Amino acid sequence: MTQLTGEAKAQYVRRLFSRIAGRYDLLNSVMTGRMHYRWKSRTARLAAQGVAGDALDVATGTGDIAFRLARQPGVRRVVGVDFAPPMLSIAFRRGKTQPRGAPVAFLLGDALALPFPDAVFACVTTGFSLRNVASRERMLQEIHRVLAPGGRACLLETTPVAPCGVLPRLFRFYFHRVVPLFGLLLAGDREAYTYLPRSVEGFPPAEELAAMMQRAGFTKVSYTLVGMGTVGIHQGVKV
Ligand SMILES: C[S@@+](CC[C@H](N)C(=O)[O-])C[C@H]1O[C@@H](n2cnc3c(N)ncnc32)[C@H](O)[C@@H]1O
Repeated sequence: MTQLTGEAKAQYVRRLFSRIAGRYDLLNSVMTGRMHYRWKSRTARLAAQGVAGDALDVATGTGDIAFRLARQPGVRRVVGVDFAPPMLSIAFRRGKTQPRGAPVAFLLGDALALPFPDAVFACVTTGFSLRNVASRERMLQEIHRVLAPGGRACLLETTPVAPCGVLPRLFRFYFHRVVPLFGLLLAGDREAYTYLPRSVEGFPPAEELAAMMQRAGFTKVSYTLVGMGTVGIHQGVKV
């Protein structure tokens, strides 16, 4: 699958997330020991610091980051965009029972051609999506395009661990042996959870992603590693 590009990759990814949508949240919690909620809260907090205006969560999935953005002070409205209808249906259902925060709307759309005019969002987030898109450069450019000047983007993404030492070997065993087993047992879909760890390995290290953000036009780019160095939270500002 790693060789798929362009529309073929988009179709593969859309079908994959459509298939596992019902089990996606459960599997995330099992695989990360519920740590993904913390990382998502941190991403939303970072993105929305000091903002006053609308927020966008790209490739929102079941809406975790969108709901967290809605609880940040200064955020007026939130839009979550994704191209897999079954993921969005779950986000929409969850939205009905969210206790507080700014209004959240969900929209079917492509991260590589965001359905918004230029410079309309005060902040933009995305979680665990960059490694799934056919063009990371294009997605970063789109995020930059829809951000208003002075707005901040925050990207939460798995980062490949350096190949030497004991810990990386343990992680690789976990990602390649244990995660597919969880996928089989909890989602009945070993293939999907074999693709996910593979997609991490083809992904650029945190430093390189920071450089890609700069090339897309972001300034003040920085990142923090969490999850024992397996996950990066990158941020950048549009001038
Ligand atoms: C691993 S999930 C992450 C969901 C959510 N952001 C989270 O952190 O839980 C990746 C999501 O990206 C979406 N996605 C992948 N490529 C996309 C694209 N080109 N446009 C819109 N959504 C896309 C998938 O449908 C899926 O919901």
